[in-house]
Amino acid sequence: MVGNSSHLRPSKRILIETMQKPLIIANWKMNPGTARAAIDLATGVSQQISKSKAQVVICAPYVYLPQLYSLNLKNIVLGAQDAFWAEQGAYTGEISPKMLKNLGVKYVILGHSERKRYLSETPEMINRKIHHVLKARLTPVICIGEKKKQKKQTGKEIKDQMVRMLVGTEKEDVSRLVLVYEPEWAISTNEGAVEATPEDCAASIAMMKEIADEMFGREAATGIRYLYGGSTDKNNIANMLTNGAAQGALVGGSSLKVTDFVALITKATMK
Ligand code: PGA
Repeated sequence: MVGNSSHLRPSKRILIETMQKPLIIANWKMNPGTARAAIDLATGVSQQISKSKAQVVICAPYVYLPQLYSLNLKNIVLGAQDAFWAEQGAYTGEISPKMLKNLGVKYVILGHSERKRYLSETPEMINRKIHHVLKARLTPVICIGEKKKQKKQTGKEIKDQMVRMLVGTEKEDVSRLVLVYEPEWAISTNEGAVEATPEDCAASIAMMKEIADEMFGREAATGIRYLYGGSTDKNNIANMLTNGAAQGALVGGSSLKVTDFVALITKATMK
């Protein structure tokens, strides 16, 4: 990471400064229950983070995106929770990256463990989705993580997922990837969830970086952003960012209340 960027061209400086800000992505999952509640939640967050130094993304259910887009919310970028691997056609129930782009969406979560678990999404399906999301010039937020907590992180599951999901990514697209270390055992709504420590996170992100270097070469891989996802809240976020090597977080439960999410963002920017 570059430290002082004041000597750089303005466009390059803005890019680097944006990348240095923590990237905080709300994954609302299948919440809230009504469009009214979705508007209130997004508006409430938007109004309270005006001086924030974080890049904040809200990944809302598809059906709320048009209304959220029409509000032109300050300080918030829109994201989606999935996208299909084609532009248009006979794919009942699916939504294409291009359709999302037309609604102002910039980020798309792909391969969330809940989709693997409930909808049997495979790494190969996610791989196709990643390619199409990149092709549409959207940013894929790709979830990677092991099912069960291991005594010692071997990286085997992580490597298998990364290789299968990221194979075929063009070198020039690699720096547009956002990779989330998302251990399933740490997701707040999973039974018996336990919090990951910053050390768990740092060790796994270090492995992910090594694998990315191997796959794409160090130069291409340096631009990848690494986030953490799993039971983050206002109490643990600062530690995860400072000691866990994460450049931001994918936040589930704590993104569903204005006060909780704003407090998390505030803590994330105080590190
Ligand atoms: P959580 O969800 O913050 O509620 O644990 C995170 C995730 O699903 O990635």
